[in-house]
Amino acid sequence: MGIARHIKKLAGYVPGEQPRSKNVIKLNTNENPYPPSPKCTAVLSSFDLDDLRRYPDPNFTVLAKAIADENGTTSDRVFVGNGSDEILALAARVFVENDETIGSLDPSYSLYKTLAAIRDVKWVGIRNSSTHPLTHPSTSLFLWTNPNAPTGELTEPKTIAAFAKKFKGVVIVDEAYADFARSNCMSLATAPRNRNVIVMRTFSKSYSLAGLRVGYCIGPKDLIDALYKVKPSYNVDAVAQAVALAAFKDGAYHRKTVAKVVKTRTAFEKALAKRGWDVIKSEANFVFAKPPAGAAAKDVFSYLKSREIYVRYFPGPLTGDRLRITIGTDGQMDTLLEALDDRFRGEEKTRKTSKKKTRKQPPRK
Ligand SMILES: Cc1ncc(COP(=O)(O)O)c(C=O)c1O
Repeated sequence: MGIARHIKKLAGYVPGEQPRSKNVIKLNTNENPYPPSPKCTAVLSSFDLDDLRRYPDPNFTVLAKAIADENGTTSDRVFVGNGSDEILALAARVFVENDETIGSLDPSYSLYKTLAAIRDVKWVGIRNSSTHPLTHPSTSLFLWTNPNAPTGELTEPKTIAAFAKKFKGVVIVDEAYADFARSNCMSLATAPRNRNVIVMRTFSKSYSLAGLRVGYCIGPKDLIDALYKVKPSYNVDAVAQAVALAAFKDGAYHRKTVAKVVKTRTAFEKALAKRGWDVIKSEANFVFAKPPAGAAAKDVFSYLKSREIYVRYFPGPLTGDRLRITIGTDGQMDTLLEALDDRFRGEEKTRKTSKKKTRKQPPRK
């Protein structure tokens, strides 16, 4: 009676901190530093409030058609969610029996593990794409983040295609960051003979609309139909449908924003490497990097926070020696680098002073 046993035990997902102050440099949740398309402003300012008396289109017809057209497929293969997080939650209910397992890369988006716990099923993490997920036969849903988070690494689509071909269950390729990468898996999802690949995207990152809560996915019609069966009736509100459509149709602005982020990412990776950081080559709008020897990621995280610069630290054996830093504007990244220089200059000074002190000590007998 009361709260289900497995929910009582559940720790719950902890999202990245959302500081209230607008004066901080926020590089902790992979948001976009640039504003959404000006076409969104036009939609919002002309939105007829009278339209809010009615429920929104439960099938997001116009938005789904635009997404289908852009990807050379049909609307019946498109599903739209209240953020891609909602699609993930629905998928955990739709594609997994009680005695089956949800798989993902490890490390990866930590929400997957929580979704399995909410669903009271097992979760299995695969260290990298060469450790074959097929070794876990009860896995019925594999969530393949590509590029991965928090590492930023890209798996080649042909690797995912080969895996999906052999895998009996459903593969969701979570492409939250794919717009910043050199390749993606959309053609696997739209292929007429595809039976088990769903590719998922979001408006939260490359479209600068994290606050709007819209994500979508494309896949085989029977899988998409199943998602429709379980979704809340009006899961995507009317304003969100209209604004997301405006952003989606403004391809030129989208490309320009993505190009700016990618350019800053390349420069920032070089700047960190020059300062002795170990940087994993990123294909996303963040980098996952290890501070120079002697500096603990957790301490650098706290130091940056004291300077009102928020980055993300994930404790644990696979992630705890690095920081995930979202790519902001050039100015924000320069401020971050200056703060790091202050921190490490300080450390260098302390090291030199303590070396001198050590040298001055008389030799031991
Ligand atoms: C890999 C991955 N998938 C999905 C999401 C959720 O995106 P949305 O804002 O569309 O719910 C995130 C958010 O950070 C993410 O990192």
